[in-house]
Amino acid sequence: MVVMEETVQLVQITDTHLFAKDEGCLLSVNTAQSFLAVVDDVVVRNVAFDAIVATGDISQDHSLESYSRFAQGIECLEKPCYWLPGNHDRKKNMSQLLPSKQIREMEHVLAGDYWQLIMLNSQVEGLPHGYLDESQLDLLEEKLNQYPQRHTLILFHHNSLPIGSAWLDQHKLQKAPQFWERIAGYDNVRAVLGGHVHQKVDKEHNGVRVMATPSTCIQFKANSDEFALDTLPPGWRHLQLHKDGSIESQVYRLSEGRFIPDFESEGY
Ligand SMILES: [Fe+2]
Repeated sequence: MVVMEETVQLVQITDTHLFAKDEGCLLSVNTAQSFLAVVDDVVVRNVAFDAIVATGDISQDHSLESYSRFAQGIECLEKPCYWLPGNHDRKKNMSQLLPSKQIREMEHVLAGDYWQLIMLNSQVEGLPHGYLDESQLDLLEEKLNQYPQRHTLILFHHNSLPIGSAWLDQHKLQKAPQFWERIAGYDNVRAVLGGHVHQKVDKEHNGVRVMATPSTCIQFKANSDEFALDTLPPGWRHLQLHKDGSIESQVYRLSEGRFIPDFESEGY
């Protein structure tokens, strides 16, 4: 990844849930329109960034057309995009879109001189929960060993910590303690970043920052044991990964009153 300054700057876009059809809606929110409004918000806010990271659930119907809709939507951002699959995605169809001018499917990215991104696949095809199999955990350790001087941002779709909503937490990363054990011995892990929970999360666990980011479409209500939507608008995240390993991060949201979901719905 080409980085302009010592600080690596990223834009995270997650859980776009796109459809092949223009009129595709998730709980009454047109996901193509809300995604494009978020991309527009990135442009309007005029933040500097070196790359986009897209952390899964790119598609809701896992069609090839939905993935090319995503690719077209981010064209105006004019930066490379590193993507990984969520539970709703079909990896084969994601890969079929490649090679692409902007989109990269890479498990490991050297970002400037001081950071590395490790992008893991936590998808269990056909099921909503996540899991990192041995090959993914081995890859993680291999890169942590190989680049001990680099600060590390680990990315995968599912939440590795419970967030306090029973209906969502049953679909979190399974065997998460194994993941945390595997990285416990390394002092170069700075943060874990994902999507999946459709809300802003910013916590710390074992000295590692753990973040999740609002979806570009519907938002799930925090601390609700039953399925519930939130009135908060769609959003995205900006990250600054500094040379000293510290991270500044800001979640931005669209203005209130746009893309209101159907609050009568009982699930998704
Ligand atoms: Fe999602």
